[in-house]
Amino acid sequence: MEMHFGTEIILLAEQLAGHSDDAEALTVAYLSRAHQTAGAEIAGWMIGAGLQVRIDAVGNVIGRYPAADADAPVLMTGSHFDTVRDGGRYDGRLGILAPIVVARHLHQTGERLPFHLDVVAFAEEEGLRFHTSFLSSSAIVGQFDYSRLLNRDADGVSLVEAMHAAGLPGTDAAIAACAVDPQRLLGFIEVHIEQGPVLLDRDLPLGVVSSIAGSVRRRITVTGTASHAGTTPMAMRRDALTAAAEVVLAVERRCADPRHADRALVGTVGTLAVPQGATNVVPGRCVFSLDVRAADDATRDAAIADLDAEFQRIARQRGVELDLSETMRVPCAACSPQLRQRLAASVAAAGVPVLELPSGAGHDAMVLARITEVGMLFVRCGNGGISHNPLETMAAGDADIAARVLLDFLRRTAAGVSG
Ligand code: HGY
Ligand code: MN
Ligand code: MN
Repeated sequence: MEMHFGTEIILLAEQLAGHSDDAEALTVAYLSRAHQTAGAEIAGWMIGAGLQVRIDAVGNVIGRYPAADADAPVLMTGSHFDTVRDGGRYDGRLGILAPIVVARHLHQTGERLPFHLDVVAFAEEEGLRFHTSFLSSSAIVGQFDYSRLLNRDADGVSLVEAMHAAGLPGTDAAIAACAVDPQRLLGFIEVHIEQGPVLLDRDLPLGVVSSIAGSVRRRITVTGTASHAGTTPMAMRRDALTAAAEVVLAVERRCADPRHADRALVGTVGTLAVPQGATNVVPGRCVFSLDVRAADDATRDAAIADLDAEFQRIARQRGVELDLSETMRVPCAACSPQLRQRLAASVAAAGVPVLELPSGAGHDAMVLARITEVGMLFVRCGNGGISHNPLETMAAGDADIAARVLLDFLRRTAAGVSG
């Protein structure tokens, strides 16, 4: 079988992974040098594919395959090109590269669509540098949180300073102008690697997403008293790190409770630091992150309420202070029944049995769901389904079938618009 699209996607993903903040790993933090060159490379590929390209005030790279009629509606597709630290090369990027190769095919064969196809390379989804996940999709939906402009990265650089350094205006007015008009949108469709083992286990290259789990993130600071490790008796310590350790285990205990297993409840402490820590000092401060998700908001919020009560109990018992600041709250998003159906029809037409599955990972589509109908196509993740890890992988054949299904989906959407 010809695998023209898939081979191209794998090659482009490989090339895009050449832009990294870290020589040893794939790390692309928002507005870093590598982030800017990756965005420029994507813009170049879009131009080569016959798209009209613009870069908005938050750094989204948007390529339009225009309809003949300037007043035509818009179908948006895309995903993010920033990464986690030491991430994989398909997370986010597949959802940019697949539409680019499909749009290029349309352009080269002269096949027009009765709607503008906007391919969006979202600049920031992972929240790695400024604790601002979904920053660029929130600008697109007109819900950018301007207070985030003052967030600082680990080096003390503020978000607005980083924007200026990258040549972006960094003004409220320019960011407000990133918002698209929901009235003109036909919907948003995102192609994404599954990042889990379900499709691999079922021996299926593709799946149709039913809903996307919402998440709450916290930055938790425990404050105790820094004191001499040799002279402070064990009973007299106010150790911030041992208190944090108890909190971490409480998260695991609550979220692993088998009574909630069917609601896909998960809780993770992914970062933990002892600022100014030293071998011979009882830790006075500990800062860590918390990420809690579930298939529905009520399950997640019940877990958070229980955890808050448990954290307070631990803090009282250990004589430390807790500051729980919420850095993100995104509700669960349902995919639109109409787009699910249309995607399922395209998957079936490709000869693939249709499997619907929920997404435990967050995606730009969940933010777009605030203003338009969204649909998501998942593509099998190799290597046991591992992601947020350099071992993340995808077969060219799977990327190929995903692109062909996307093309079929565009044609079905076109038939609906014209008919
Ligand atoms: O964390 C997430 O679910 C997404 O990959 N940013
Ligand atoms: Mn990710
Ligand atoms: Mn992603």
